Amino acid sequence: MDTRLHNSAFLKACRGEHTDHTPVWLMRQAGRYMAEYREIRAKTTFLGLCKTPELAAQVTLDAQRILGVDAAILFADLLPILEPMGFTLTYEEGEGPKIHNPLRTRADIDGLKAPDPRQSMPFVGEAIGIIRRELPADIPLIGFAGAPFTLAAYAIEGGGSKNYIHTKTLMLGDAGAWRRLMEHFTRQITDYLLAQIEWGVQAVQLFDSWVGCLSPEDYRDHVLPWVRKVIAAVKGKVPVIYFGTGTATLLPLLFNSELKTPNSEPDVIGIDWHTPLQRGWELGAKSVQGNLDPVCLFAPREVVLRKAGEVMQAAKGRTGHIFNLGHGILPKTPVDNVRALVDFVHGAGS
Ligand code: CP3
Repeated sequence: MDTRLHNSAFLKACRGEHTDHTPVWLMRQAGRYMAEYREIRAKTTFLGLCKTPELAAQVTLDAQRILGVDAAILFADLLPILEPMGFTLTYEEGEGPKIHNPLRTRADIDGLKAPDPRQSMPFVGEAIGIIRRELPADIPLIGFAGAPFTLAAYAIEGGGSKNYIHTKTLMLGDAGAWRRLMEHFTRQITDYLLAQIEWGVQAVQLFDSWVGCLSPEDYRDHVLPWVRKVIAAVKGKVPVIYFGTGTATLLPLLFNSELKTPNSEPDVIGIDWHTPLQRGWELGAKSVQGNLDPVCLFAPREVVLRKAGEVMQAAKGRTGHIFNLGHGILPKTPVDNVRALVDFVHGAGS
């Protein structure tokens, strides 16, 4: 790897090394809150944007440049990987993603296709190629995928869900079918992340956005082994960030040495605002990412900076802090507050 990338504040922090300033990037840093995004998005549908490498690259690069953040994140989404497996996916204006043929039965699982993401998602590789050529030489590019549970929950429920009834019914009612499904998603997600690494990303984030709906026991028995498999397959190639929301009672299981398999801990743990930032290090993580409540960004500037100062204070004296939000930036967030936040973190030392 180029030494400028290797020595970037973001990758140093991923390795738990000392940095001159605290690196910052923000989940959903490219999105509707930004006028430049809305202008490009007006040209096409959301899926069209994800599948047009030049546009996806431009959106990624714009966000990194406008905010001055320490890492770029590939512009894509969690769910397009489901299409080549046989799911029909649309994004409804104002309603979010919808899967029109959700998975419910054993026969549905048997019928899942397993194409190689290198062939089925070439547009992602092309976007990564453009982004890597155009990004400043010292700015790492983060790739990502959904974690097996979160992806399965979307595929089964057909969209967002409050109670995850279909998902939990399958998980608890048919252990064999659930295992087959997890195996399938684990393989696809792993291949997709390995492809992104070959195409040129410097780190990957595994999004387990919905695991917070699970009891610790169900997480341990039905979900965590598959998270570990994905991490173990990727770890050592590039740093792996594992992010979930509502994970306060799940993180101790992830870091429990008796439940550990070799190489299956993330390099960086991403946490939301329900969990104190220090908890990540206390549990044994080398690096911690988070955890400002994204809704704070709607408050007056001085409140945003005070709250950001509290996050910095929580990380004081530690190495391996990557400043981020506890979840993605929301539409309508004032851009000026986001820029002021990034400047504040850069000015605060480490
Ligand atoms: O972080 C980035 O800047 C990279 C891009 C990115 C998007 N989605 C763009 C997006 C990333 C990393 C994601 C991940 C993602 N997608 C997650 C995990 C993160 C999280 O929020 O927990 C999830 C759950 C999804 C699924 C998804 N995609 C939902 C629920 C929605 C609808 C939400 C909404 O605000 O409408 C999307 C659409 C989506 N993904 C948009 C963007 C910018 C908005 C779509 C638009 O332009 O109309």
